[in-house]
Amino acid sequence: MGATFSVNDPHYVSYPREIAEQEYRNSEERARPSKNGLPKYDMPDNISDLERLETQHYLMRYLWQSNFEAPVDEVLKSSDAKVLDVGCGHGTWIFELAQEYPNAQFTGIDTESFLPKREASDNVNFLEHDLLHGLPFSDNTFDFVHMRFLTQYISEKTWEDVIVKELVRVAKPGGWIEIVEFDYPHYSAGPKTRKFTKAAMEFLASKGFNGLLSLKLPSFLKATDQVDEIRKHDKSIALGKWAGKVGEFAIQDMALLVTELRGELSSFMNISEAEYDQLLESYKEEVEKYRTFFKTHRFFTQKKDASKLEK
Ligand SMILES: C[S@@+](CC[C@H](N)C(=O)[O-])C[C@H]1O[C@@H](n2cnc3c(N)ncnc32)[C@H](O)[C@@H]1O
Repeated sequence: MGATFSVNDPHYVSYPREIAEQEYRNSEERARPSKNGLPKYDMPDNISDLERLETQHYLMRYLWQSNFEAPVDEVLKSSDAKVLDVGCGHGTWIFELAQEYPNAQFTGIDTESFLPKREASDNVNFLEHDLLHGLPFSDNTFDFVHMRFLTQYISEKTWEDVIVKELVRVAKPGGWIEIVEFDYPHYSAGPKTRKFTKAAMEFLASKGFNGLLSLKLPSFLKATDQVDEIRKHDKSIALGKWAGKVGEFAIQDMALLVTELRGELSSFMNISEAEYDQLLESYKEEVEKYRTFFKTHRFFTQKKDASKLEK
């Protein structure tokens, strides 16, 4: 089954602005400090020194006010809990969790170019590995398996045939699996923005990738027949200064992603890199005018316990 995308997809068509704003407000209000206290996680004051993946991490952490959704807090406090982060990037997520849960053991895998420059600590290790070849771990190894933002690296078919099955395989019976993704289409989007995201979706589809993987992940997980109920929580992230500091972070992050794609996407769109950059500028203007946002999703599920797996 190849990636599918249609410009008529209801998820692609622009949202009414009132819904967009309400969705964004709901997200932001949950993160905002209460009258008497501070949020558990705040945003760094200055993002200009941060790399894109770090910006993204802090943005997610602030809006969700957590680093994960699965109910594993108690498990991670116990000694010998094992956590795997697949496609860990620079390891920002892992380092933070390793500090918060010093008794647990953390493993991150990624390709060489992305692995952190920082030294691993006592309870953190990193492994260079191409996950398209599967995961280099025995069955039933981890209490918590986490994977965030790999839509654009893996074809839909590989997600279905390899990745999701591998995440479930290496989780212990009763262990948790969490996948975090965002949708490429934007909501409450202006015409240039739609042109851009449509091109990005089609570009991904031309490689067999799916910029709306969130629609497929539940069925891929369910098809393993090894997980219990699949839960999904969503959050909208507003793009642009109209949404304050968070929106400013978010558009900077998205603009960096768009810039990373310049070479391949401009040639796919059959436009020059200069025209592409102009489109990027229009996109930045439009998100302010249309009050655009995009959606992130956290899927989490528990691998069936041993008695159910044997049946
Ligand atoms: C957008 S980054 C996300 C990083 C991290 N999960 C986060 O949320 O900050 C995607 C990561 O997936 C890694 N990746 C992509 N394809 C991979 C592969 N085939 N094997 C291992 N890592 C891969 C990239 O190197 C990159 O670090």
